[in-house]
Amino acid sequence: MPSQARAGAPAPLSFDWSAPAGQTARADWSAYAKAYDMLSEYNPAYQVLLQDFETFLGTIETPRVIYDVGGGTGNYTEVATRVCPGSEIRVVEPDAGMMGLAQAKLSAHGNVTYFNRALEDVDASGTADLVICVHALYAMPRQEERLGDLRRLLRPGGWLYLIDLGRYMNVAEWRSYLFSHLKREHGLAGALRIFWQGREIGKQNKSILHAQVSGVYWTHTEAEIASSVTAAGFKILRQDSVYRGYSDLLVCRAMRHA
Ligand SMILES: C[S@@+](CC[C@H](N)C(=O)[O-])C[C@H]1O[C@@H](n2cnc3c(N)ncnc32)[C@H](O)[C@@H]1O
Repeated sequence: MPSQARAGAPAPLSFDWSAPAGQTARADWSAYAKAYDMLSEYNPAYQVLLQDFETFLGTIETPRVIYDVGGGTGNYTEVATRVCPGSEIRVVEPDAGMMGLAQAKLSAHGNVTYFNRALEDVDASGTADLVICVHALYAMPRQEERLGDLRRLLRPGGWLYLIDLGRYMNVAEWRSYLFSHLKREHGLAGALRIFWQGREIGKQNKSILHAQVSGVYWTHTEAEIASSVTAAGFKILRQDSVYRGYSDLLVCRAMRHA
């Protein structure tokens, strides 16, 4: 297991390290998509991040062109459409299931364009004023190159709002956190019902953990992601440990190319 994944991580206490039978060590994003928005609805830690993004948008000059890379079901795009209704917003999302939900959710907004492809297959440069990339970089191949792609999308001085899962997805610990929260808010029967409806979330989070442990997905410490982001040509203006210590949030500006 990669050593950096353990640093600062609430590591799983007991875990079967072999991949689940019949599953590859990757998340099935289309299977995840159906339950994904339950995260938004019922996970307060997810809500805190969405709120942070909305607050951030209110502090910068309105971006003309925004990319949401690995935009998933469109929750961050939705915030952008609300706060920046005049911006041109481009969603890059390779998974058809995830993207279909984003399109349905945002169908009333004519200023959103969809690119059903991976970041590494996007052929554009220097146009964006803001790139959003939330909880997607870790799942991409060759992160140093992908950070270079994010830099390439931006004009010099453009903003990168980056959140990335860095530490092991401790499924049991998340389950216990969410169950306690839901029990407080919805009672025992309500919590059990929501858990049953969202059971795909636990399954896919387990696949994410397997992919992390086997080195298919990237794990990093705060210092490691800061160093990779800087090497890709960004100046970091803010860095916080977020999502209950599992993820890193970095607000950066694209430096001029040397
Ligand atoms: C956990 S979801 C995050 C969705 C959304 N950003 C959010 O926070 O709600 C991760 C997303 O990254 C996408 N993804 C995976 N590999 C990618 C790649 N190479 N380029 C762009 N997106 C990718 C997946 O399809 C998935 O929708």
